Amino acid sequence: MEKVRQEIDELKEKIEYHNHRYYVLDDPEIPDADYDRLFQRLLELETRHPELGSSDSPTRKVGGETKTGFSQVIHRSPMLSLENCFDPQQILDFDKRVRKFLGDDAQVHYTVEPKIDGLAVELVYEEGRLSVASTRGDGRVGEDVTRNIKTILNVPLKLVTRKQSLPIPDLLEVRGEVYMDVAAFEKLNRSRAARNETLFANPRNAAAGSLRQLDSRITARRPMDMFCYGVGNAENLSFRTHWDVMMALQHWGLRVNRPHITICNTPDEVVAGCRQIEETRRQFPYEIDGAVIKVNRLDLQFRLGMKSRSPRWAMAYKFAPSQEMTTVLGIHVQVGRTGALTPVAQLAPVELGGVLVSRATLHNQEEIDRKDIREGDQVIVQRAGDVIPEVVKTVFSKRTGNEKKFVMPQACPACGTAIEKKPGEVVARCPNVSCPAQIRGSIRHFVSKGGMNIDGLGEKLVFKLMDNGLVKDESDLYELTRTDLLSLDNIKEKSAANLLGAIEKSKAPSLGRFIYALGIRHVGEFTAALLSEQFGSIDALSNASLEVLSAIDGVGPQIAESVFNYFADPQNRALLERLFKAGVIPVSTRLKQADTPVAGKAFVLTGTLSSVRRSEAKEMITQKGGKAGSSVSRNTDYLVAGDEPGSKLRKARELGVTILNEKQFLDLLGA
Ligand code: IVH
Repeated sequence: MEKVRQEIDELKEKIEYHNHRYYVLDDPEIPDADYDRLFQRLLELETRHPELGSSDSPTRKVGGETKTGFSQVIHRSPMLSLENCFDPQQILDFDKRVRKFLGDDAQVHYTVEPKIDGLAVELVYEEGRLSVASTRGDGRVGEDVTRNIKTILNVPLKLVTRKQSLPIPDLLEVRGEVYMDVAAFEKLNRSRAARNETLFANPRNAAAGSLRQLDSRITARRPMDMFCYGVGNAENLSFRTHWDVMMALQHWGLRVNRPHITICNTPDEVVAGCRQIEETRRQFPYEIDGAVIKVNRLDLQFRLGMKSRSPRWAMAYKFAPSQEMTTVLGIHVQVGRTGALTPVAQLAPVELGGVLVSRATLHNQEEIDRKDIREGDQVIVQRAGDVIPEVVKTVFSKRTGNEKKFVMPQACPACGTAIEKKPGEVVARCPNVSCPAQIRGSIRHFVSKGGMNIDGLGEKLVFKLMDNGLVKDESDLYELTRTDLLSLDNIKEKSAANLLGAIEKSKAPSLGRFIYALGIRHVGEFTAALLSEQFGSIDALSNASLEVLSAIDGVGPQIAESVFNYFADPQNRALLERLFKAGVIPVSTRLKQADTPVAGKAFVLTGTLSSVRRSEAKEMITQKGGKAGSSVSRNTDYLVAGDEPGSKLRKARELGVTILNEKQFLDLLGA
């Protein structure tokens, strides 16, 4: 018994320590999965030995203490946590417990929705106006983050209603999750890396760190979003189900995750709903760490009530983790298509979100130095979104002293040429354009999904074709014959025919794809599409002067120079010639801009549009040849006014600018 007590004490201490790092410092030291394991173990011991449980145990508490610098907000009703389960059988057990509690005749059905990996926030609306926003804190007292929350575009400052049956309650406490999209998180970290600032471990930390900024101007520059998933206190609400509450919140202008909330009528449907979210988790633009199952009927929720830290009517089904601890077996260097040298960690294989991972990018020497990653280290690795796994941090407490520091080689590991590193740049490069590793990388990029999209031509096959001397550059792909392919091991008649078919099909790419496929430095899919729009043909693009390129909105001097240099290089021009001769004909999808009523017109947007995001609306305008500006002037042709338009509307009226509502705007665009 003494041993159990000791283990419980140790677990409590560890969990408290990690709680502090997670909730207060926004800087966790161990993966969530490891934390969950400690927590589950403590829960198990306390359940088996109830006499050893105590009211100060972390299993009875929600979240962390608060950070200083913010004033405190006492939640009118506590913000609870959720009980976790990890496999489908536990979902079925949960359902059994619910039914047992309610009695056999209860009509139980559930909702299943994604569990967003962000941080819990409460918004208080008084007479429809946002009065206070707070973090969860310890569940009872949170931090006042009102100023910061107000910088999130999707959080309405004022609720609206268009239905008499849905009046806005005098008091409404809305709960939800504030988070950062994976893409926004990666962009933020890239810019932090460029400024030598410490990186955020994951989107959740980035969102938490941003929301708990004492300077809300900094928060305003961090792209965050919020999904509402429930209500706390609310006066005079008489909804029947959780689903109805969600629909009402949406009607009042709050953002709910509607397309991903499903109603499940049987326990099997609940399991299937959770599985469906798990299987598609990589397709979400934000991180989700599980699915939340809720009893749908509010009267049943009320009857089920709550335990000390979580309600009895809900359960979180947590996915296989996407962060784990593992060992760096070694570090080697990869040469990419632009000659950039990337150090890659060879890892003891671990399962991350259902995928076995044995390599992770270390980006560059600076990054290795900043995180102090050495061969032999224990590290935390993660997969965020659909990206290559990366090392989040080193676990220094596991160091033995036998770890080996890594230094970048002085010569290219593929061709032996001396490595170059420009002053001020973090990336080391192999300057040899004929370096076999670079050519391999270019061909791989050329055939990739965003490029020529040649189905069935993966990395291995590209390497095999090159190793066998069948392909030396991109144009050789179009000269391949059936006999060539059949001469390779493991290629049978059918796959040869399929591949030749896919190559043939790729001969008419859109101009944008073709430009992207060329692998011009700094030209990603977006820029490639922009260049295709602007020039309409490879001929026009390749003859554009540096001045013309730099003058394009969205093309900075770096991109302009890179494009210009690409087409100035005789080797590249020769490659293009060979591709055209082999029958590749890029197809321009450019609209004749003069044909659209939007061409050349200046638009300004104000207020909230209900069916498109502002960024999407701007993109639609530019795609049709219009311009989207931010302030109203005499040169503005149209002001598009959404809900709650700002002062721009008044100004537009004063200047006699044509004002469009959302529908008129979409009609004009032909959308
Ligand atoms: S419902 C009584 N729904 O998960 C608690 N929570 O560990 C009701 N979360 O604190 C929570 N997505 O921050 C709910 N769709 C969702 C959620 C969600 C994320 C978070 C929330 C909560 C934590 C529970």
